[in-house]
Amino acid sequence: MATQSTGGTVMSAPMTSLSAAQPTKTGAAPLHISNAAVEPLSEQVLRVEELTVSFDGFKAVDALSLSVERNELRVIIGPNGAGKTTLLDMICGKTKPTTGRVLFNGLDLTRMSEHQIVRAGVGRKFQTPSVYEDLTVFENFEISLPKMHGLFQSLTFRRTPEVRERIDTMAGEVYLRDQLGRRAGQLSHGQKQWLEIGMLLMQEPELLLLDEPVAGMSPREREQTGDLLSRIAQGKSVVVIEHDMDFVKRIAHKVTVLHQGKLLSEGSATEVQSDRRVIDVYLGH
Ligand SMILES: Nc1ncnc2c1ncn2[C@@H]1O[C@H](COP(=O)(O)OP(=O)(O)OP(=O)(O)O)[C@@H](O)[C@H]1O
Ligand SMILES: [Mg+2]
Repeated sequence: MATQSTGGTVMSAPMTSLSAAQPTKTGAAPLHISNAAVEPLSEQVLRVEELTVSFDGFKAVDALSLSVERNELRVIIGPNGAGKTTLLDMICGKTKPTTGRVLFNGLDLTRMSEHQIVRAGVGRKFQTPSVYEDLTVFENFEISLPKMHGLFQSLTFRRTPEVRERIDTMAGEVYLRDQLGRRAGQLSHGQKQWLEIGMLLMQEPELLLLDEPVAGMSPREREQTGDLLSRIAQGKSVVVIEHDMDFVKRIAHKVTVLHQGKLLSEGSATEVQSDRRVIDVYLGH
């Protein structure tokens, strides 16, 4: 895949791979294989090392280490209060760890601001959708284009056919092509979640962090979101926090189980589901 730093080509390359992956699984396959040919399959994108954060002496995340590879869709599960959201907060720079490091392509994110982390290629979606309700779906996509940031860019920004096409492709990708003219406030909860995922994708993150993206979605919407996340993970890395084990089994390449801020278990969905410790503290309840 092209690197983040080469400008125009980068903007369209991952979009192409996403849309090419859309029609059929067979259609996506050659593209995926050609990606794999230029990148080693075991490339580590994210590495969390001995990460700890204390809030007044309480360790919400406690000496946690894990790593996520390119093209990987990792799901994080665990009981309420296990530290899942806090982990994502530390990866995206919202919370600074007490000790430990977060390496993203070799960069130590714990030394960077939230803004720098976004620019380095990490996209974060919080639990509640945050879209601009008064703007149309099209406009929401438009303002999330990286080109719109900065005074110079916004002054010179035009709705070029290229921009329209890019938005149209993304809208199709997140199942909103026939909603482009609607105000975002009129979308269903699930559609707002998709819009926010699409807005994040407009910025071409290399790592996408999603906190319970299917909460409140209908079964059909969950299924579509599962397909979407699987497509996104082709070429990127995706970390998803989720409680619904049926959904987890459907999408996860690997599952990390947290409990009281620590790593309790890690493996395939089937492996962690049959892990006695996981059943005892989480799945058995
Ligand atoms: N800023 C903070 N100050 C104090 N305590 C905090 C802070 N943020 C999180 N915590 C505590 O850290 C623990 C982990 O919280 P976190 O939100 O990460 O859990 P979670 O695994 O995401 O849970 P859930 O499944 O309910 O979303 C909780 O006990 C929470 O109360
Ligand atoms: Mg949480």
